[in-house]
Amino acid sequence: MQIKNIVNESNRLLAMRASIRRYDDLVKIDREEMRNILQDAMTAPSSFNLQPWRFFVFDTPESKELIKPYMMFNQLQWETSSAVIAIFGDMDSYSATEKILSANVNFSLMTEDYKTQMLEIISSYRDSYTDERLRESILLDCGFVAMQLMLSAKAYGYDTNPIGGFMRKELTQALELDEKRYIPVLLVSIGKVAEKAKDTVRFSVDDITVWR
Ligand SMILES: Cc1cc2nc3c(=O)[nH]c(=O)nc-3n(C[C@H](O)[C@H](O)[C@H](O)COP(=O)(O)O)c2cc1C
Repeated sequence: MQIKNIVNESNRLLAMRASIRRYDDLVKIDREEMRNILQDAMTAPSSFNLQPWRFFVFDTPESKELIKPYMMFNQLQWETSSAVIAIFGDMDSYSATEKILSANVNFSLMTEDYKTQMLEIISSYRDSYTDERLRESILLDCGFVAMQLMLSAKAYGYDTNPIGGFMRKELTQALELDEKRYIPVLLVSIGKVAEKAKDTVRFSVDDITVWR
């Protein structure tokens, strides 16, 4: 085991990210900057580049009030953060396949022929997937974007806390989302740090790695 935050030249952004629970509640991230943070986070990879993540940004006093009852024991982050971002996975993300492939063609990243081939391949994968398999894939993609969101925020000078402790079903219903389609994945609080995070520990690589 070792202390996590051993900062060096190459790991600076990674090692400096830590879960912050108390933010400076006077600092508001404006929507233009938040849009940039989210756009950068979306450089994340995803299965077939279908980008199944959907963001709900609660950044006004009214919208934060809406989310408050569902944040369980995470009230400090709720109260002090500039915003809480809810990440949902879209079980219908495959319906955007054509649109995404066409954008590749428009940007000359793909030929029409290749697009047609890819459409077939992707739709045959989709047809072979059970809902459970699809859900797994979407959760994985949303995990990537969540991680990138936390690092992107850090690069813009903000901090975050991934929050799994929230009332998933109730929040999904409060947002009037189709529960079969939208999977509640994670909340991420974001703001300017007011109280540094406590150090945390990590396994050493050799504790959890098999070299073969
Ligand atoms: C999926 C997930 C759910 C988490 N849920 C919560 C939560 O509900 N409340 C909280 O304060 N921290 C939560 N955390 C933060 C972890 O406690 C934290 O990442 C871990 O202790 C390591 O600390 P660090 O993020 O500062 O490196 C969660 C982290 C992850 C990845």
